[in-house]
Parts: sequence; structure tokens; C-alpha cells
Amino acid sequence: MVAQNRFFFLLAVAAVLAILSLSLQFLHLIPTPPLREDRQNAKSRKRIMPVPHTEPPVIDPVYEAYAYCNIPNNTERGVEGHSPPDYKLLSVQVMIRHGDRYPLYAIPKTKKPAIDCTLVPSRKPSHPQLAAFLSHMSKGSKGRMDSILSGLPRFPSHSVCEMGELTQTGVVQHLRNGQLLRDTYIKKHTLLPDSWTSKHLYIESTGKSRTLQSGLALLYSLLPGFDWQKIYIRHQWSSIFCSSSCDCPMRNHYLEEEQRRQYSLRVKNSLLEQTYVDMAKIVGVPTRQLRASNPIDSLLCHFCHNISFPCTQKGCIGLEHFNVIKSHQLGDEKERHETKVYYRYSLLATHPILNQTVTRMQRIAEGRSEEVFALFSAHDVTVAPLLAALGLSEARFPRFAARIVFELWQAPKDKKSLFVRVLYNGEDVTFQTSFCQKHSRRSSQPLCPFQNFMNFVKKDMFAIFNSTNYYDACRRRAF
Ligand SMILES: *[C@@H]1O[C@H](CO)[C@@H](O)[C@H](O)[C@H]1NC(C)=O
Ligand SMILES: *[C@@H]1O[C@H](CO)[C@@H](O)[C@H](O)[C@H]1NC(C)=O
Ligand SMILES: *[C@@H]1O[C@H](CO)[C@@H](O)[C@H](O)[C@H]1NC(C)=O
Ligand SMILES: *[C@@H]1O[C@H](CO)[C@@H](O)[C@H](O)[C@H]1NC(C)=O
Repeated sequence: MVAQNRFFFLLAVAAVLAILSLSLQFLHLIPTPPLREDRQNAKSRKRIMPVPHTEPPVIDPVYEAYAYCNIPNNTERGVEGHSPPDYKLLSVQVMIRHGDRYPLYAIPKTKKPAIDCTLVPSRKPSHPQLAAFLSHMSKGSKGRMDSILSGLPRFPSHSVCEMGELTQTGVVQHLRNGQLLRDTYIKKHTLLPDSWTSKHLYIESTGKSRTLQSGLALLYSLLPGFDWQKIYIRHQWSSIFCSSSCDCPMRNHYLEEEQRRQYSLRVKNSLLEQTYVDMAKIVGVPTRQLRASNPIDSLLCHFCHNISFPCTQKGCIGLEHFNVIKSHQLGDEKERHETKVYYRYSLLATHPILNQTVTRMQRIAEGRSEEVFALFSAHDVTVAPLLAALGLSEARFPRFAARIVFELWQAPKDKKSLFVRVLYNGEDVTFQTSFCQKHSRRSSQPLCPFQNFMNFVKKDMFAIFNSTNYYDACRRRAF
């Protein structure tokens, strides 16, 4: 029951994020109405919310927004590293979304949210390792990274956050992720030998300070006080981590089609359009300009940081505006999954990273590599398609500091017998993936065979394109 609720929650988050992502990444077309409700209102709403478990939950935009914020609390658990007795953990690959960040856009003519991006261990939310992290990062000039990354700050440091900067909340979220993974993978399963070196780790980040810093925070609590000489961080220029296999014309085609779907859903929503008009009046700019400023991104930041929405002499942006835009995002995410265009986009977008994941697992299983831990520090536009491609259509849009984990396991007696587990934000979603939905857990194999995952990535994921490989699927026109 708990797992189920959580999943719905995730779903909702997914929706929210999708909307956000859409607005941010694709079209920048979500106009935000002015909100002026304060947090208290949001809170009381949240409390009223206990939904009867039997009914399909009514999607509550405020509840979803909280899930998206991922405000650190002590109840967070995960079932990473859980397996039948005597199975051996061979490798772990983690993809994260960066933690809480300052908005990427400002609402015109309003005060930006006052958030301090310096790290202060005595300020909430904090983490027992925050001070040590800060001190270790200041010594990191010997850290080895691709040159684009070595030019970035290793921790956030502006007393007035810059656009897109990771906040202390964002750092704490990843310190917690790392600690959780340490408890299970390092302490319980000794995934890394005590004398681990750079050959045991693979780390990749996009070229934004918030992804680099998020990755470093996770790494720090996973391996406290790590030797800077033993890590190497690679730069990934592509936000979908397609490395050298990015040429895929059909992927672009599906993305454009998805953007058209998104646009037409928006213009059909008259409540949404009216909300943007109202907000634009409050702010005193043309509606078009307000919409282009993607106000939901900024409002979510207010929301997550318990800062009241901006006001002008003409009034305040309120929770009612926020709710309309957020609800639209959630509806957009729902339609997105129903129409399948985004699914096709996602399959093509994520094949390269999934192929890499499978290849790394194979090499380890065959003893050709010792790279037992891989970390990819990424964005919502990386994580969301990965969820979709895996068939996790119920999963929520990636919240701040979301994590997807792939584990490779070996059976006790038969070394050739390999299994995979997939986890999203600590929840085991293996049997919701399209490649293991049909696998019966009651069969002689309690885990999902690695072969299923491999077949999916190497071939089956292209079946929907009437194709058997990436190159062909990327070029085959759908009529
Ligand atoms: C803590 O976080 C979890 C998962 O993010 C959430 O389900 C739970 O409601 C939160 N608890 C509190 C007290 O906020
Ligand atoms: C949010 O802010 C209000 C007043 O601005 C305050 O009363 C409340 O305690 C704050 N909530 C949290 C969780 O910090
Ligand atoms: C998939 O991985 C294999 C190595 O196992 C590699 O040879 C191939 O080029 C990769 N394909 C793509 C599309 O990345
Ligand atoms: C695949 O083939 C089927 C039947 O031949 C056809 O209906 C479908 O449109 C094709 N799909 C693509 C993506 O080409």
C-alpha cells in the first residue's frame, strides 16, 4: 500500500516535471498566472489531502509540487541493494537529476526570490557532512576532470543565488542520496574494495555547475574524504548522454511532433490562457512576455523555499494561479504518455546511454572490467526520457535530486546467471519495466534476468519502429 501510494506520488511528480520540462526545455511556452497565496495555504491544503486509498487519487497540484521539491526529511528510505540471500552485487550504475536549484528564468518586473546559495552548516536544511564536504571541496583543485568541468566551481557560493545555481537544499539532497547508497553498497555489499582506485569508478556530468556539484555531493557522502587523485570526472556535452551516437534524425522528428502536441494542448486550455492574462496584468507586462518567462519555474522555487509569491502594486500572484499552471502541467504529462510520441522520442533518445549501461554490465560480468560504480549527473530532460523508454509510464516526473539505479546481480551457484534490478527514488520498479513486466516473480528466478534487459536494449526497443537496430530506427520514416 505504501509503495503504491508512493508510486502515485511519483507519477504525479512525473507529471509536474514533465510539464515543467516541457515548458522549460521545449517551448518556453507556459505562462504563469500571478500567485499570491502563501505557504500556509499550501500547507493546509496538503493536510486536507488524505485521499481514500481505493479511489484513483485526484491529482492535487500542491501535493505534486511538494513531491517535486523533495524537501529533505528523515523518513527517506530506499530498497537499493535488496536481494535474495547469497546473490552477489556486481555493479551499480546511477543516474541523478541535480538537486534543488535557483530558477532559470525570472518573472519580469518582480523581485526574485531571496535565496542564499552559500553553504552554511548551521542553516536548515543541513546535513552532518555538510561542513566536511565544504572543506573537502575547497581542497579539490587537484581533482581531475575534463577541462570544461575543471573551470566550474565545485560548490555553490553566492550569497544571492545566480540563475540555475544549486542551493544548499540541493547539496543536502545529494549528500543524503550518497549516504543512502553508501549504507547499502559500500557498507553492506562492499561493492568497492578498500583499496579502490579510479578504475573502479566511472563518473560523468553535463557542463553545468549544478550537475557537477550534485555529483560531487553524492560522491562525497558515498566515499567520505575520497582521494581527489582517485577520481576522474568526464564531461558529457549532450543532455541525453548520447555521447558519440547522437545522430538520429527520427528522434528530432518525434521531438518536434511532441512539441506540437504540447502547444495545441496549451492553446486549448482557456483557463490557463486566462490565468496568464491575469498574471500579466498583475506584473504589468504583455501576456506573451510573461508566458515566455516560464513563470512556473520561478514560482516552484518560491513554493519549495516557503517564500510567498511575488506581488506588485496591482496585486499578488497567488496559489490559484500556481494551481492552474501546475494542473495543466500534470494534464500535459498524462496526455504525453497516452499519445506515445514522447515514448518514441524517448526510445531513440536513450538507446545510447542504455546501450552503454548494458555494455558496462557485460564487461564486468565477463571480468573484462572493474568499473563497478558509475554515476551520471544529469537533468530532468535526461531522466524523464529514461523513465519513459523503460516503460515506467506511471513514474512521476523527476523531482530535484531524483535517482535511477541499475544493479547487476549474480546468482549464488551459477556464475553465468545474471540479474538486473531497476530502482527509481529508492523504489524497486524492475517489474514495471517493459522488459520485465511479464516475468513472474514466483518463478524459479526471483529477480529479472539480465538477458531480458539486454534483449530489450539491443533489439526489442526498436520493434515499435519496425526495426531491429538503432541506426535503422533513427532513419526509418513512419507513415
Ligand atoms: C518525507 O519524504 C518522503 C519522500 O520524499 C515523503 O513521502 C514524506 O511525506 C516526507 N515526510 C514529511 C514529514 O514531509
Ligand atoms: C513558512 O513560512 C511561514 C511564514 O512565512 C512560517 O510560518 C512557516 O513556519 C514556514 N514553514 C516552514 C516549513 O518553514
Ligand atoms: C552499443 O554498444 C556496443 C558495444 O557493446 C557498441 O559497439 C555499439 O556501437 C553501441 N551502439 C550504439 C548505438 O551506441
Ligand atoms: C510498422 O508496420 C506496421 C504494419 O506493417 C505499420 O502499421 C506501422 O505504421 C509501422 N510503424 C512504423 C513506425 O513504421
